[in-house]
Amino acid sequence: MAFDERKFQDIMGEFSATTEYLREVAQNFRQDLQLGLKDVSSSSMRMLKSYVGLPTGKETGEYLALDFGGTNVRVLRYKLEGDGHSKVIRYVAEPLIREGEYNYVGKGSTQVQMFDFFAKLIDDTIEGDRDTKFYLGHTFSFPSSQDDLNNAKLIVWTKEFATEGVEGEVVNDLLLAALKRRGINNVKPVAVINDTVAVLLSAAYKHSDIFIGSIYATGHNTCYLEPTIHDAKGFGKGGMILNLECGNFMKLTPNRFDTAFDQKSEKPGEQRFEKMVSGRYMCELFGMAIAELLDEDKHYDGLTSVDMSMIISDVSADLEKVAEIMSNKVGHNLELGDLKKIQELASAIVIRSARLVTASYVGIIWQRASGGTIQPQHIAVDGSVYEKMPLVQENINRALSELLGEDAAKVDTILDNGGSGIGAAIAAAMAV
Ligand code: GLC
Repeated sequence: MAFDERKFQDIMGEFSATTEYLREVAQNFRQDLQLGLKDVSSSSMRMLKSYVGLPTGKETGEYLALDFGGTNVRVLRYKLEGDGHSKVIRYVAEPLIREGEYNYVGKGSTQVQMFDFFAKLIDDTIEGDRDTKFYLGHTFSFPSSQDDLNNAKLIVWTKEFATEGVEGEVVNDLLLAALKRRGINNVKPVAVINDTVAVLLSAAYKHSDIFIGSIYATGHNTCYLEPTIHDAKGFGKGGMILNLECGNFMKLTPNRFDTAFDQKSEKPGEQRFEKMVSGRYMCELFGMAIAELLDEDKHYDGLTSVDMSMIISDVSADLEKVAEIMSNKVGHNLELGDLKKIQELASAIVIRSARLVTASYVGIIWQRASGGTIQPQHIAVDGSVYEKMPLVQENINRALSELLGEDAAKVDTILDNGGSGIGAAIAAAMAV
């Protein structure tokens, strides 16, 4: 079959984001920040206080880091050496789902199973040592409310997590209880931070001129240093880092695929921005648009963002990889013209994502500049979509230029690989 040209153009139009529209999104984002700074209930974002500012770069010592926020959990033992240097001494990582063996994140799984699993991984990392005193920083990448650096309570699961008994609980209390059950009394959790905060701490440990940290991966979220908020304990002289939870940003226009997917997601009405831009969701939108092109009333949910990445990267004359993925995952052997359209569609979804994410960064840059001069700065980003998805970085740069004009020369994004682990160790060092 050949796809209907009009229908294809219509779908492509749904995924376009003009400069004018991006400017509107950036302005709305800034306005939402301003509203939230006055009264957080009037912003669509949670704007959660992290009770931490930027590190000095001089933090030293050995710390444990528990990094949990996606389908893999990692425990690391770090040595912070100061001057932005650090070493990994030990590293343990396991998936939270092993098909046919266990699933700690799906419906029916419990907090005891999940946190006992974390305690086991911590035990593996300290190699059964019950004597040395360890301080642990915990990167917990879900919206949590806290009133100090350690007491983070999970507000609500995101990213389709559904483990029972964690929402509403103080996560380090659950961790401490699990450590006790395992007979580990020498590991003390002292800090909980979001992964965006971890990326910002990690990048700021090494470089100056960093005020924004972001995750662009399975999920999407950003934090920044807000100069007007200070903590009574004197944390963060340059201000406090706010975890925006901007995956929940609402002031933008979803297209019909965004709306239809949201309706069937685990939590309809929530995380609307994240559902338009992050890796967990772009492939869902892609699957839905493909079904429409094929005139089928199906939801192709077997496609992943890695498939999209391979589809976009296929430079072969007959689009072999695209054909293979369409045949294996969608069950159709498409002609070349249609394969080209599939490739264009995947690109359009990714480009829209990169452009919208950039608009959110620009909203923060404008807010920090408060109408004055934009400071030269790097935006620290970590995550598979940013690192590996073709078209993303070049489209971020393009959108920065469209929105900032000459000032774009002052701003760039840098990859902070693994920041979500080391950031937890830095937070632990700052806490003790
Ligand atoms: C989701 C979480 C957020 C996290 C982001 C990236 O949006 O709610 O806390 O930072 O995913 O992992």
